[in-house]
Amino acid sequence: MSATQGKATNIHWHEGDLTRDERWGALKCTGGTMWFTGLSASGKSTIASALEQVLVQDGVNCYRLDGDNVRHGLNKNLGFSAEDRAENIRRIGEVAKLFSDNGTVALTSFISPYSADRDDCRKMHDDAGLAFIEVFVDTPLDICEERDPKGLYKKARAGEIKGFTGIDDPYEAPAKAELVLKPGVDSLERCVEQCIDMLRERGLIKG
Ligand code: ADX
Repeated sequence: MSATQGKATNIHWHEGDLTRDERWGALKCTGGTMWFTGLSASGKSTIASALEQVLVQDGVNCYRLDGDNVRHGLNKNLGFSAEDRAENIRRIGEVAKLFSDNGTVALTSFISPYSADRDDCRKMHDDAGLAFIEVFVDTPLDICEERDPKGLYKKARAGEIKGFTGIDDPYEAPAKAELVLKPGVDSLERCVEQCIDMLRERGLIKG
């Protein structure tokens, strides 16, 4: 049985009495997901974290979900096979969707190397009438490898880590991301600004 096939039977969707409009209206918030994808050390978490600072200081209810962190808890039983990465991304897609529905701006930073997995997350948001903004953090492999903050590229090149994204595992760059950031070229401030402009354009933040 695949991870996405439901196991439980005799379960029924319970629609609450509170509509999304009532919730968002009363709490004065708007939810949606900004999905950062890119190689390890491309700058996803740095940008998401700086963006989170600016948004929260501006009173925007947002929450960051980060690959390395989520793999310490909710997804600690998953590795890096294509199947496990798909399940990692599926769960995060669902969690981000719940945050969005709650009126939170969810910022996710996961390599999310497979287009099909990202497209599934987009679809689950679309089907729920929630915004999904894909942001490609487009830092070339040689720069990521040069940065190598955790020394993982070095280990992967030495064969000590197998199936490392960009070295001996694929990364499928998005073909239709709403936003492409180039942290190797633009400053962190500029990247954050571009995210804010996009969130404004999509109505997730006002002013
Ligand atoms: S994803 O591919 O499933 O989206 P995720 O973003 O959760 O990956 O986790 C990536 C982080 O795990 C990397 O930044 C790196 O620190 C660590 N990591 C450990 N092993 C690998 C691997 N084989 N490939 C990529 N990242 C790895």
